[in-house]
This record gives sequence, structure tokens and C-alpha cells, in this order.
Amino acid sequence: MDAIRVRGGKPLVGKVKVSGAKNAALPILCATLLSDGESKLRNVPALRDIETTAALLRFLGRGVNVNAPEVVVEAGKDVRPEAPYELVKQMRASVLVLGPLLARFGRAKVSLPGGCAIGARPIDQHLKGFEAMGATIKLERGYVIAECGRLRGAEVCFDLPTVTGTENVMMAAALAKGRSTLVNCAREPEVEELARVLNKMGAEIDGAGTDVIHVRGREQGELLPFDHAIIPDRIEAGTYMCAAAMNEGSDVIVEGAEIQDLEALVLKMRQAGVEVSTEGQSIRIRRTGPIRSVNVTTAPHPGFPTDMQAQFLVLMTTAKGESVVSETIFENRMMHVPELQRMNADIALRGNTAVVSGPVKLTGASVMATDLRASASLIIAGLAAEGETEVRRVYHLDRGYEHIEAKLGALGASIERVKGAM
Ligand code: EPZ
Repeated sequence: MDAIRVRGGKPLVGKVKVSGAKNAALPILCATLLSDGESKLRNVPALRDIETTAALLRFLGRGVNVNAPEVVVEAGKDVRPEAPYELVKQMRASVLVLGPLLARFGRAKVSLPGGCAIGARPIDQHLKGFEAMGATIKLERGYVIAECGRLRGAEVCFDLPTVTGTENVMMAAALAKGRSTLVNCAREPEVEELARVLNKMGAEIDGAGTDVIHVRGREQGELLPFDHAIIPDRIEAGTYMCAAAMNEGSDVIVEGAEIQDLEALVLKMRQAGVEVSTEGQSIRIRRTGPIRSVNVTTAPHPGFPTDMQAQFLVLMTTAKGESVVSETIFENRMMHVPELQRMNADIALRGNTAVVSGPVKLTGASVMATDLRASASLIIAGLAAEGETEVRRVYHLDRGYEHIEAKLGALGASIERVKGAM
């Protein structure tokens, strides 16, 4: 297993280009199942999760050529509507084939994803949506077996805004008979991006990006293949913004980041005293002096993203005062805290709330990554720490960050990957 070593204390200076959004690419790759034709995705990041999705589509019977930043899903009618445990256990988002398979083929057998490091993560809201559209759902030996003659349009009211739940049900509704109204939807930019692609395929979807989405279903075979360039990854952009703000003297331009997708983060960074400005299609981050503590509570978009909680919490270890960072989306997303405490961070953890006291001088140590965003936060901590930090189990990182050592290295960071470190 690889590790990443970081020597801290250097301000970051220069430009970094944001890759395409992982959490937009995954559902859009699954949406290719709604058409038999050949679809092309551009600006796709070279990530393990993309490879896993491609392997899943191949298992289902579609040819896939991954040549990042381009992915081509070949034409194909003969699809085996089954997603096995071996693939789904590698990546929960595999559950996003359930809606397209059910809508397109009237049947789907998909392994239940099970829990992950950050929480139980049930899919009851996804299944509730399919049942409202007339599907019968059985759970057998760890698999969801969903069947229907043809899905029919329905009103689906989610108990809570779920990103992949909204995406899965929206894809299913695109081929259901009649109209659907989805209420209490997730409003994330990735949901909007999926609706943009579905409409490009010929679907009729209104309201994506708001909490009510209207879908008029098309007939089988009416959805066409697409050629689409994916939006930039706002979470990757936010990660580089926090990395830049860790050390005084930093001046970084995050190219291709859309500031309107990061308003909650930008607001908090400005409140802390970090200089954040827009430069054309980019965001400029400057840390010119000490920063102050601010409180953060994660929430569904447009609230503060849970996927930025760990990275921002690390920034608050260098801020003057006490910051209260509360995680409300996932029940177990504070695993980075004990690792940061090993780096001399002063954090009191009470359930899903961390009280961060600063500023402290972080000290380098060997630390363990537990999930994707926690691993990014440990790299960021290493950028400001005294001495060397070794982040282990970086396979988590490779799921969501393309060439992170090269990108940070180009900004002046002292960082290297150690192959097969343990
Ligand atoms: C998406 O996960 C993202 N993943 C996550 O990013 C992100 O953290 C999350 O949305 C929240 O923004 C992808 O888009 C592939 P949810 P998702 O359904 O859709 C509960 C990353 O770091 N819930 O919006 O799985 C759930 O347990 C990843 O890139 C139910 O109870 O998240 C959670 O507490 C991590 N029943 C809350 O809702 C359901 O049926 C929000 O989860 C569905 C969800």
C-alpha cells in the first residue's frame, strides 16, 4: 500500500487546475444505460472510482473505453441487469445503476452497498422512490431485487435530501410512463449536472437544483446517447483552497473552480480572514497573516458541504480562537480527529461536534487515512506541520483526487508518494 510523505511549512504559490467532478461523472456514467447508443464523457478525472464504474458497466454487458479525460461507453442492447457484491462493495455509488436498469429493462438485481467508514448509509429513500413508481422490491441474500412491468410516473417525497437517491429516482422517472414530481430533493450541483445530461438525451426534467423536480417520462428507446464535458469538481477545488490557506504567504489560483458552487465555503474562509477573490473562471486564495476561528455546521447544498468538513477543520487548527465544527450529514465522519490530535492539534470531540482551539503548531507524524476526505485533510495538515508527515492507506485518496502529489508539488509543496510503503 502506498503512503504519501509531506514536509510542511512552505507557502503554496501558483496555479492548480481542477479536474472534472467525480460525483457528477459516476451518475452520468450510469445514465448511459438509459440509451442503447454510444455515449462520450469528457473532462473525466483519472480516478479509481471511474475504473470501478467502467468495470461495472462492462459486467452489465456494455463496452467501455477509459482514456481519461475521455470515457466512451459503447452501444449495446444486451445488458445483464445485475450488479454483483464484488463490484458494489468497492464503491457504494454503484447503486446508481438500479434506477436506469429498472427503468430500461424492468428488472434489476443490485447488491446492497452496506455501510462504510463514515456511516450506515441506507438506501431506503431510493427504494421508496422506485416502489412509488410501481416497482416491487425484495431484499434477498444481500441483494435488492427490483421488478416492474413499466415504471409509472408518481409523486415521491424524500424524507431527507439524498444526493444519489434524488439522482437514482430522477433517472428512473426519465423513462417512466407519465409525469413524476420529486419533492425534498438534494440540490447539489452534481444533481443539476445529471439533469442537464438527461435533458441532452431527450428527457424532460425541470427544477433540478431546487427541492422540487418535475420529470415527464419518455418512451423506451426515445433517450439518445450523448457527448458531454463534465463540470469541475467543487470539492477538489475546495480542498486546494484550504491547502493554500494553511500557510502564510500562500497565493494560489484554483483554475476552473466555480465560485457559485462553493458559496458556503467561501463565506467561512472570508470570515476567517482568508483573502478569496475570483479571477475569471478561477478562484484566488491568499493567506497574508493570522486567521481567526469560525464555526461551521455541515448541511445539504447550498449549506456547508460535509465533503469539506475535514479539510476546513484542519484549517481551523491554525486559527486564533475556538471553532465549533458540527457534522450533521453522516454519523461517523470525525475519524480524522484522533489522527490530527496525534499531530498536536487541540481538538475536543463530543459526538459529531469538534471544538478546535488554536492556533497550534502542528507537528509531523505517521497518520492513518480512514476515508476519502479524511485522507485529504491529513495531507493538508502535513503542509503546515513541522517536520515530516506520513499519510498511510492513501488508496482512499486515489478514489477522489487526481494526481494530488503532482498538483501540490507544482505549487511548491514538498510532497512525495512512497510506493508499497507498508
Ligand atoms: C453523496 O453521497 C456523495 N457521493 C457523498 O460524497 C457526499 O458526502 C453525500 O452525497 C452528501 O453530500 C456521491 O455523490 C457519489 P446522501 P450519498 O444520500 O448520495 C441518509 C465523497 O466524499 N440517507 O445525500 O450516498 C444518509 O445515510 C462522498 O465524495 C438515508 O437515510 O449521500 C446520510 O446520512 C462521500 N437513506 C444522508 O441521508 C437514503 O436512502 C445524506 O446522504 C439515502 C440517504
